[in-house]
Order: sequence, then C-alpha cells, then structure tokens
Amino acid sequence: MTDKQLISTIKYVAGTKPAFLLSEIVPYLEKKHPVEKLLTLITPLLDELNLEAKKAGTDYEISRKVPAAPYTMNPAELERQDAFFATRRLPPALETAIEQYIPRKVGKELADPAILERLRRAIVAQKSDYWKPTHQRSLQYTKAYHVLGYLAYHFPVYYVQTQHLLAMLARDGLLKNSMTILDAGTGPGVVPLAIADFYSRLDGAAATVYSVERSEEHIEAFMYLREQCTQKGDKVSIKPPLKADLTTLDPAKIPQQIDLMVFSNVLNEISDVSMDQRADLVMKLAGRLAPDGTILIIEPAEEANSSQLRLLSLALKKRGLTIHSPCSFIWGTNCTPDRCWSFATNRNIQPTRLMGVLASGEEPFRYLNIDIKYTYVVLRKDAKVRDSYRVPMGSRVLRLSQIRRHVEKRINLIAAKMSGNLGDAKTLVFKLCDGTADVPVYAVVPAYHVTPENEALVSAPYGTILEIESVLVRHNPKHDAYNVLVSRNTAIQKPGTTKE
Ligand SMILES: C[S@@+](CC[C@H](N)C(=O)[O-])C[C@H]1O[C@@H](n2cnc3c(N)ncnc32)[C@H](O)[C@@H]1O
Repeated sequence: MTDKQLISTIKYVAGTKPAFLLSEIVPYLEKKHPVEKLLTLITPLLDELNLEAKKAGTDYEISRKVPAAPYTMNPAELERQDAFFATRRLPPALETAIEQYIPRKVGKELADPAILERLRRAIVAQKSDYWKPTHQRSLQYTKAYHVLGYLAYHFPVYYVQTQHLLAMLARDGLLKNSMTILDAGTGPGVVPLAIADFYSRLDGAAATVYSVERSEEHIEAFMYLREQCTQKGDKVSIKPPLKADLTTLDPAKIPQQIDLMVFSNVLNEISDVSMDQRADLVMKLAGRLAPDGTILIIEPAEEANSSQLRLLSLALKKRGLTIHSPCSFIWGTNCTPDRCWSFATNRNIQPTRLMGVLASGEEPFRYLNIDIKYTYVVLRKDAKVRDSYRVPMGSRVLRLSQIRRHVEKRINLIAAKMSGNLGDAKTLVFKLCDGTADVPVYAVVPAYHVTPENEALVSAPYGTILEIESVLVRHNPKHDAYNVLVSRNTAIQKPGTTKE
C-alpha cells in the first residue's frame, strides 16, 4: 500500500518544481525506503498525477509530463483523406466483409429472398424502436438480426461520419502522434474500424484503440470485421472489446491517460437514467482521460436526441469539463440549451451494394441510409476551446437574449452559424446562437438576396462566428422563435475581417 504521506509529499514537491530526484523526498518521509522501493510504490500513481519517472544514474528523475504536440497532417496526407471523402463509400474490403459476415452468420446465401426479407424487417423494427422515447425502447442487440440490420443500414453512414469527425479533430489540433483511444458502446466496431482506416492514410501517427460493448452479437461481428480488415503491425492496434455495461463499469478496467474517448450514438440508448446520471457516467470515465485528452460525444441529429446532447454538454460543463466545440460562449455566459436543436452535416454517402439490393423492392427509401447528419460535442479537461473569441467591450451589437424587445427593428449582432441550410433552395434558413438566447433564432435569406457582402452566412462552415450588420427582427409565433431577415443591405463577415 502506498502511504498517504508519500503521495502528499510527491504532490507537494511536484507542485513546486517541474523535475526532482526521488532521493530528494526521502528526508521528508517517516519510512526511509530506498529509491527502488519508492519507485515501485509510486509507479501506479504517476499517470494520475501527470508525472513520469526516468532513470538518472542510481536515482530517478520525476518530472511533469510534457503535453504531446498536435499531429498536423501534411499536404500528401490531406490529399489522401480528401480522396477518401470524395469516394463517399466504404473501403471495398469492409463492404465485402459485411456481405460475407451475414451469410456466415445465418448459414444461407445473402441473395436468398428470405434473408433479405428478414434484414428488411430488422431494419424497419430498429427504426421504429429508435423513434420511441428512450425509456420505451427495447433495443438490446441480443439477436443476430438486430446486428445484421445494423450492419446493413446504420454502419456505412456512421463509419464515414466518424472519419469526418476525425478529420475535424485533426484540423482542431486534437490528434497526437501516438494515441490511446477508448470507444464506449462500440457496437460492431464502427469507430475503431473507421480510426484504423483514417490512420492508414497518415504517415506518422499511431493509435491503440480500446472499446466497451455489452452486446455479445455486436462483439462477434466486430471481431469478424477486425480480422478481415486489419492486420498485425498496422498503425492502429484494435484491442478486443471489453464486454461490460457502461452504467456499472469499473473505470479501473479501462486504460489510464486516454487521449480520446468517444461515445458515438450510445448515450441516448442508455435508458432509465436521468440527465444527471448520464453526466455522472461520462465524468466517471473522464477520470481516465489524460489531462490534455479529448471527449467526443456524438448523437443522431433528430430533435430529441440532439437537444438532449446540448443539455448533457452543459451539465458536463457545470461539472468542470470545457466545451471545446461546436459551441462558443462569446459573451462569456452559460447558455440555455433547453430548445437547442443544432446539428452538422456532411455530403451523403453512396448507397452500399447491400442497400441497393434491399431497396430493390417496395418502398426503397426505407432501406437507404445515406445522409450524414449528427449532433456532436467536443469536451476537454483543460481550458482548450476551438474559438476563444469574445464580443469586445463596447460593441454596438444586440445580445440575442434581448431580441424580443426589438421585433420589427433592424439590429446588428454577432453569433455563430449553428446549422446547415434548414430551408430550401429558394429561402435559406440558418440557426444562429450567441450563447445568450433562450428561444431559437434563425437567419432567413431569400436566395435572390444573397450578395457578395452577406454570402458568408451561406458559405461559412458549421460553428463559424459571424458579425451580422443590419437585419430585421420578426417573431414567429407558431414556433415561438425569432427570425432575423437578411437583405441585400445586410453585411456578414467573420469578426475582425475588413471589408474590401
Ligand atoms: C447505436 S449503437 C452505436 C454503435 C457505434 N458506437 C456507432 O456509432 O455506430 C449503440 C451501442 O451501444 C451499446 N450500448 C448501449 N447501452 C450500453 C451500455 N449500457 N453498456 C455498454 N454498451 C451499451 C449497444 O449495445 C450498441 O452496440
């Protein structure tokens, strides 16, 4: 047992200088152990204390861990990633592996009409369950067809979506040369397999991916796909998933100093828990995160799940995590996320061959799942944020919390663009957020009013902060929301951008 005095002495000395010799602390200890023995005692605690030990002659130097530099993709790597995204398809080996796994599992050819019909029924049942409130869902993935339906319908889109998110983390400087990653609720290994594929196009990065999953059927599918699509010696080592329930998981069972922790489409499936309990679950696992580690939570884009994630994000912020993105708190206040429905989009994927076969009968749209739409939050233990912009003191812009007092007036505002186009080609609609509004606010622009001076609203990526000059405020009583009407006279630009 490590004694308390030893830990508090190490913590104290480490707080006073960046490095010291282990022998230096001996005089302060009641039990005068030799340094070798001291090292054995403190080794299990070093990660938690963010310290590392190096041999220094007959002694050991204890120093603070230096945070790893962000991994920056070089032009050739960027080109390879873009080429992957341009295909909008699963890698051929993976598509084939899924097609092979299904007949292997059911003992009949994939072309067998009875198999295709059962897959169709599994997909329809899964979707209808999905739309029920969380507590009424029965989705447990205990039967083979639950997972086969998942492979046919959900897997392809989530796999490509994960790679878009990895590209985003890379752009934000949140990937490192060598990473320990945990995927919680991995299903058939969507995230680990996507990481392996993304890293296969990087020159100098490596990762070890751990995962947790409670469904035996999912684990079996994951193991098969891993065997077919990865090899020993690859840049990414995918460990077999730990079979466990996240709600009761002992954090000591997962690695320490995790660099990236992913919850992809899983937290919404944990039923019968309150928002506080869900936040506690994330915090419990966050205890295993490196001080410069990242948590990525992804949920489907539909309104209920999406808004729940915003509430969860704020609950986690209040528990001490930093919201890195996509939200920016430009007035330095906490937001009111009760009615926040905001999601990101990427280009549709191409339907897989299997989707094509399933959709060849009646109501084909039921079996095609190609839209990439998701709600995400990136959280950190340190204070790192994607955009640290704050509205400068004295700016002549309206806080959106005051918008109800300005109906039918022209205003200036600064806000982040928090959606793609929610309208149509004729009338474009974008969600805006400045972190102060308690009702939804949308920028509305008829296509014929888009000018070079305001087109930043249309072209800026999701989450971009924009300065918006001269918009007319309208109340939308049907939705209790506010629209700000963009006209030819409206100027929109990133803050600090000078107009030409
Ligand atoms: C919708 S799937 C998501 C799979 C994968 N992460 C993805 O994004 O495609 C949700 C997964 O979480 C797992 N899951 C749900 N609740 C869980 C829990 N309490 N403990 C462990 N796994 C859980 C389910 O078994 C399922 O595999």
